[in-house]
Amino acid sequence: MRLAIVQTNPTFGKNEVNIHTATEQMREVPADLYVLPELFNTGYNFTTMDEVDRVAEKSDGATFRAMVGFAQRNSCYAAYGFAERADQIYNSAALVGPSGLLGIYRKVHLFDRENLFFKPGNLGFPVFDLPFGKVGLMICFDWMYPEAARSLALKGAHLIAHPSNLVLPHCPDGMITRCLENGIFAATADRVGRENRGDVDIRFIGTSEIVSPRGEVLARLGKEEEGIIAVEIDLKDAEKKRINQYNDLLAGRRPEQYGF
Ligand code: ACM
Repeated sequence: MRLAIVQTNPTFGKNEVNIHTATEQMREVPADLYVLPELFNTGYNFTTMDEVDRVAEKSDGATFRAMVGFAQRNSCYAAYGFAERADQIYNSAALVGPSGLLGIYRKVHLFDRENLFFKPGNLGFPVFDLPFGKVGLMICFDWMYPEAARSLALKGAHLIAHPSNLVLPHCPDGMITRCLENGIFAATADRVGRENRGDVDIRFIGTSEIVSPRGEVLARLGKEEEGIIAVEIDLKDAEKKRINQYNDLLAGRRPEQYGF
């Protein structure tokens, strides 16, 4: 399958413009699955709850309709981050395809001031069966908790679609370990640019990447430029969990010794 990561620089609060810019990037590079950044339609650096409320959308809102339209026209799938208006407002990711919405993930580990504006996720870590393999979702700072990627791997995911808005520098290298320790692919789609709003100035680090189950960086974008890159991968490679005659990555776990 052909997997693409889309690195954007959204304009805060301009959902329509941001969706248009992202889908224009996607049109340039054919793929079976596109992974877009966290909150790619709204921007990130909220200063009040009112601001979040103004741009949050239901899972079948305008962003969903645009992404499903793209998926139908191009017979493909897309995972993207958005502010989800439901019983509460969540920092969510949707997975859509030609048939519509496949599912939603709500960010479990909220980062920094996200805790002021979003409720913590309550849907666990979901895995979806697509025609080319099993795709799990997590969002940005979830990478810091190895349990997130491990849950997805234990549920059989071949690939982690990982919409992100990275601020700290560690994730791109950290995801190499997440992939290696789970024998799984990951596609981290980050944004670039700066949002200086209120008294909070945030710079995003770009460096979106696709990593293989052996920890190889198959594609990586720069720190500053918008872009899209796709690689051809065989998701079946994520089924090879055996390291040698005596070690199997997942079967070798010793949960009774971990004590949690
Ligand atoms: C982050 O979780 N957006 C850093």
